[in-house]
Amino acid sequence: MNQSTTSSAPDDSLSAATEQVRRAAQDKAKRPSIAGFFDEATNTVTYVVHDPASGEAAIIDSVLDYDAAAGRTSHGSAELIVEYVKANDLTVTWLIETHAHADHISAAPYLQEKLGGKLSIGREIIRVQDVFGKLFNAGTDFERDGSQFDHLFTDGETFKLGEIEGIALHVPGHTPADYAFIIGDAAFVGDTIFMPDFGTARADFPGGDARQLYQSIQRLLSLPGETRLFLCHDYKAPGRDEYAWETTVRQQREENVHVKQGTSEDEFVAMRTKRDSTLSMPELIMPSVQVNIRGGHLPEPEENGVSYIKIPVNTL
Ligand SMILES: [Fe+2]
Repeated sequence: MNQSTTSSAPDDSLSAATEQVRRAAQDKAKRPSIAGFFDEATNTVTYVVHDPASGEAAIIDSVLDYDAAAGRTSHGSAELIVEYVKANDLTVTWLIETHAHADHISAAPYLQEKLGGKLSIGREIIRVQDVFGKLFNAGTDFERDGSQFDHLFTDGETFKLGEIEGIALHVPGHTPADYAFIIGDAAFVGDTIFMPDFGTARADFPGGDARQLYQSIQRLLSLPGETRLFLCHDYKAPGRDEYAWETTVRQQREENVHVKQGTSEDEFVAMRTKRDSTLSMPELIMPSVQVNIRGGHLPEPEENGVSYIKIPVNTL
């Protein structure tokens, strides 16, 4: 038997997301305002998404500046977000992580202190905490229950940004805990799919799975064609000199170099696995993962008051 039982089951979360996008497409008041902030050091896009009527806002995937050679953090990128939120008189209710990032440290705790909001991530972060807790030999004081976050989203969970509707979709594959957040007609897809000319995210980190990633991407590409997609990263692409991070479901279906319509799961998995085997680990994976599985908090200081980042040797 080579049949998936899940693919034929009704996907209530996806149906609800589809209906939400349709309602937003017909009513401008249900569509959010979106500002993207590109961090060139880590190729990451941070989004501030808000309801124009109420000023209620979510910050998605923020970046803490980190000088790896010096082991020093700074807040230049985060301060750009603080300035934007203040200049537009927004009220931050959510600080959302699409997943535990491996290429940059989250600035969510810093932004929470300055702006408020509930720090949140998908509930499968518990699995990621377990995997990396073991890898970093974190002691029993490191809780592997997601308690470092204020809220853990589940698949299909709905939320509001003022009067604008939101829904969380679990899209594992890049990591076990990746979520896409659909707000009005806009989907913040984290590391699943990238610009059509670049393709898709890697699936070779501990807990990653190319087959799952394909299924997750199919789910996202089942949303209405006009759904706006906002990506977590961009690296330019051959023939493109400008960074870009916004596209649509329709454009992805027609043009994505890794998963456009007609690409089979087996073809995708073969391509992804081969490509991943050529990629080196992201420069900041060690500090990023160690801090991000703690909700963006540095590891507990040692008795001299200093936090240390560990590097496990010969493990990845
Ligand atoms: Fe990532």
